[in-house]
Amino acid sequence: MAENIVEKKEQEEVKEELDLSAIDEICAEYKGRKGATIPVLQKVQEHYGYLSKEMVDRIAENLNMSPHTIYGVITFYAQFYTTPRGKYVIRVCRGTACHVKGSGRISEVVTEEFGIKNGETSSDLKFTLEEVSCIGACGMAPVIMINDKTYGNLTPEKAREIFREYAKKDD
Ligand code: FES
Repeated sequence: MAENIVEKKEQEEVKEELDLSAIDEICAEYKGRKGATIPVLQKVQEHYGYLSKEMVDRIAENLNMSPHTIYGVITFYAQFYTTPRGKYVIRVCRGTACHVKGSGRISEVVTEEFGIKNGETSSDLKFTLEEVSCIGACGMAPVIMINDKTYGNLTPEKAREIFREYAKKDD
């Protein structure tokens, strides 16, 4: 199912089509303020869903910083993403309790349904799979989150039904 995975080339194409003018507006709000980098990155990511090289260059230009310094911030904080992410981010807990109760099989169901593995995004930009460590709901293991919604006590079959419901949602 490799064709379902967002290839680097496709990601470049997505980037090229984007209108980056919102970045200028966001940076204008923070210009000259101390500690502007993180809030600017958060706002830009909120707007575009991720932070591409072109976006980082534009931010750097606006804030009079080097892109290198900005990348330093992006790589330090796990909240920032440099590739497009799906509309629905499926987080499958791979902590011990969930692992013991078969969360590995649930990840496989995601792969079967959408052709994506851990860290990958489907080519229609609808789903991203992220395997994460304990999300603090071990009593309901195995647990997944889809965006901010939590689903527990799953079986592979139940998970598959939930994924198919999301796949049917509006595009
Ligand atoms: S191990 Fe999955 S919620 Fe704790």
